[in-house]
Formats: sequence, structure tokens, C-alpha cells
Amino acid sequence: MVYFVKALAKLRQAERRAREAERLAYLGSLAGGLAHEIKNPLSTLHMNLQLLDEDLRKSESKHARRDLSRIAVLRGEVRRLEEVLEDFLRYARRHQLELKKQNVNDILDEVLDFMTPEASQGGVRISRGFAPGLQSALVDAGRLKQAFLNIVINARQAMPDGGELIVHTRNVPNGVQIEFIDTGTGISDEDLPHIWDVYFSSKQTGTGLGLPTARRIIEEHEGTIRVDTEVGKGTCFTVFLPTKESKNDT
Ligand SMILES: Nc1ncnc2c1ncn2[C@@H]1O[C@H](COP(=O)(O)OP(=O)(O)OP(=O)(O)O)[C@@H](O)[C@H]1O
Ligand SMILES: [Mg+2]
Repeated sequence: MVYFVKALAKLRQAERRAREAERLAYLGSLAGGLAHEIKNPLSTLHMNLQLLDEDLRKSESKHARRDLSRIAVLRGEVRRLEEVLEDFLRYARRHQLELKKQNVNDILDEVLDFMTPEASQGGVRISRGFAPGLQSALVDAGRLKQAFLNIVINARQAMPDGGELIVHTRNVPNGVQIEFIDTGTGISDEDLPHIWDVYFSSKQTGTGLGLPTARRIIEEHEGTIRVDTEVGKGTCFTVFLPTKESKNDT
């Protein structure tokens, strides 16, 4: 009976993944077309605004100064649109994973080394509890770095007054587990159901693509990601990456 229930749950999960993959493939191809249509006029705007800006800078008139500040606003908005487009494409594009057997500790080291200067300036201590004999996993290091970076940046942003980010790795059956533990704000009950949604953000300048992108990359590796959190105490994101060839057996 228990076996049957487990098998059914696995089947449902596989079905869900297949549906999601199909949906994302569709979204990806739509996005490609749309992005192409938007990108060219945007770069025309970008270029012409720059030319206008250069022309107006040569003039001393009051009008020119006023126009310059308007152009600055327009250029800022164009830049923002370009960024939104890039973020969306990063999320929606289909990637062919370049898989290699690697030690996840090394990938994490790179991400954390990159974050350390900015984090320590903001009073965030980063500590590593890496398993010395971590099994290698078949991963796309570049893609995985992006996923880890998104999680680590969120942790950093959740600790505006400083705190601690602890990253643990360990061997578990059929894979490796990574925990990202922060002592930040935590996530409210109200926000929690939405954090994986595309474009959900509780931040003023957030796009809301960080976590959906991270999750997508981890699921492309047939891994999982989950969250535990307590308001005022902190948050822990737990990632599982399979190491066995029969990756679906997790
Ligand atoms: N470690 C964390 N601590 C507290 N809240 C978090 C943490 N990680 C994610 N969140 C919550 O989940 C939301 C979604 O995160 P996500 O990374 O997708 O978007 P974002 O960080 O708001 O914007 P972006 O990553 O696109 O710049 C965040 O706005 C925040 O409310
Ligand atoms: Mg984020």
C-alpha cells in the first residue's frame, strides 16, 4: 500500500514535470519571437537618444538643459526595458545543458568568493560547511552558478543590517544536498505561496525572476529545491541534486 502511494506520487510528479517542460518550451519559443520584435526598436531608441543627448550637450541654451534631463529619463526607461527583456529571456530561453561531472563544492566556492567582498561590507558573514568527500554530480556549472547566485543574492538582500549566511553540503542517498541558511527577515505566510511565481517580488526594485529561474535550472538537472522559513529568524533553501545515472529515482 505504501509502495503504491509512493509510486503514484512519483508518477504525478513526473507528469507535472512533463507538463511544465512543455509549457516552458512553448513559452520559450513565444518569448524568442517577441524579444526579437522588441529588441530592434529598443536599440533604435537607445541609439537615437544617445545621439540627441550628444547634440544637446553642445548647446548652452536653457531649453537644451531641460531637454537633456528629459532625455536622461527616457534613456533610463529604455535601459530598464532592456534589462527586463534580458531577465525574461534568461528565464524563458531553452538551454542545452552542458553536463560534466563536477564537485558542487567548487561551484559554490566560486559563487561565495564572488559575493564575499560585497557581503562583508554589508556586515554579512559567509561561512561554509562543505562535506569533504562530496560525491561528484553531473551538472552544467555555468547554469548552476546562476541558480546558486540568485539564492545567495536573496539571502544577502534579506539581511540589510548584516547577519550570517551558512552554506552546507552533504552526501545523501542518490545525490548531494546543499543548504543555504540565512539569518534574515524570513518570509511571511502571505508571501510564501508566491515566492516561486514569475514576477512576484516583495522588493521595490526586484524583478521577481530570481527564484523561478533558480528552480528552473535545478529542475533541469532533475533536482529539487524547497524552503523553510521563520519570520524574524531566517530562511533555509535546501537544494537536492541527483548523482545517480537513473536520476528519476529520487
Ligand atoms: N532568503 C530570503 N529571505 C527572505 N525572503 C526571500 C528570500 N529569498 C526570496 N525571498 C522572497 O521571495 C521573493 C522572490 O524572490 P526572487 O529572487 O524570485 O525575486 P526578487 O529577489 O524579489 O527579485 P529579483 O531576484 O528578480 O531581483 C522575494 O521578493 C522575497 O520576498
Ligand atoms: Mg532575487
